[in-house]
Amino acid sequence: MKRAVRAVYPGSFDPITNGHIYIAERAAAIFDEVQVSILVNPQKRSMFSVDERHMMAHEALSYLPNVTVDHFEGLLIDYMRQQRSRVIIRGLRAMSDFEYEFQMALMNRQLAPEIETFFIVTDPKYSYLSSSAIRDIFQFGGTVQDMVPPGVFRRMRERFPRHTGT
Ligand code: PNS
Repeated sequence: MKRAVRAVYPGSFDPITNGHIYIAERAAAIFDEVQVSILVNPQKRSMFSVDERHMMAHEALSYLPNVTVDHFEGLLIDYMRQQRSRVIIRGLRAMSDFEYEFQMALMNRQLAPEIETFFIVTDPKYSYLSSSAIRDIFQFGGTVQDMVPPGVFRRMRERFPRHTGT
């Protein structure tokens, strides 16, 4: 019997953006299951807690029946093995992403040769989007409404009522 292929789409997702959703949607059209997995990194200052990020991602992706959300700590390849997944999904926005992604993919392959990294190219309309840019723009009062799912935008406004970001 053919085994279902579960791909893991790891990242910080602080917060999830429309660009991430596009990648998850493309991956969900190819793989049987896609697990969006949020890295728990206590060393990195984040705008949203892991639980909040998890909730926002879950809400935004609930229209895709074969996409689930999870979070993990430690090395990605350890998590992959624990989850019995051999496919890592990463999105590429521009050539500038490539160097970092290439290094990470090679490092992960060195550590776990059985695991493959698949890159999905973004839609050009999302090529400028990043969670860090969204955090900055919002905190300095810029408009991010068209860049994130409605639930994320609502939480950003609830969370930072002093900021005038729209
Ligand atoms: O959304 P991001 O911040 O670009 O995601 C980066 C992520 C979470 C995929 C990467 O930092 C990661 O896999 N971290 C877990 C620790 C690890 O395995 N590091 C070795 C990879 S070279």
